[in-house]
Amino acid sequence: MLQSQRTETIVRQRYAAGATERAEKLCCPVHYDAEYLKVIPQEVIERDYGCGDPSRYLREGEVILDLGSGAGKICFIAAQIVGLKGKVIGIDMTDEMLEVARRNAPIVAERIGFANVEFRKGRIQDLALDLEVLDGQLQNHPITSAASFLAADELAEELRVKHPLVASDSVDVVVSNCVLNLVEPKSKRELFDEILNRNGSYSKKSFASLKKADAV
Ligand SMILES: C[S@@+](CC[C@H](N)C(=O)[O-])C[C@H]1O[C@@H](n2cnc3c(N)ncnc32)[C@H](O)[C@@H]1O
Repeated sequence: MLQSQRTETIVRQRYAAGATERAEKLCCPVHYDAEYLKVIPQEVIERDYGCGDPSRYLREGEVILDLGSGAGKICFIAAQIVGLKGKVIGIDMTDEMLEVARRNAPIVAERIGFANVEFRKGRIQDLALDLEVLDGQLQNHPITSAASFLAADELAEELRVKHPLVASDSVDVVVSNCVLNLVEPKSKRELFDEILNRNGSYSKKSFASLKKADAV
């Protein structure tokens, strides 16, 4: 297995376990505004594996993209700041984390009175590819040979263009809480290109939130 794949597989396995049960070793002490935490279920708060709080960079009405959203805590905080007119998109590659976040989203929505958070499955260094759509297509066309592997690669390319996971220029602020450092160094260039692409420009604002919340 290549080093980059190995890192990603290890990260996925580690956070899959951390979604099922709180993993003390993955937790860092972070202070969040207690007001925002009131509506967030305990299960989500316990699976807080972030290391900073980017919420002070967010404003009402904005569209927020959270890279590596985990159990969803930052998304649920952001949902309350951006309000009904704003929107929050959480991206994560780990099924178990997405399951926790999605199961808790309607509970938070009911408590705050509106639903403005969505969790999507993807890799943050490849924000165009919707892994859930690809999963679905591969069930009908499983990879069983070199030819079907190449066909799957073509399919992924088509999906990136026709049904992007996060469209270019579609978000106001990109945040990430302790996740960019989990991406293999050789994919960092792709990662920052992807971020630039999603929010149109390397705005001071998106940079600030990444820098403060994810510089470790
Ligand atoms: C440090 S936790 C942060 C979770 C959340 N932001 C929080 O504050 O609790 C890392 C999360 O990023 C996800 N992740 C790591 N590398 C990723 C990648 N390359 N693409 C998508 N998700 C990734 C993991 O599955 C995990 O849920």
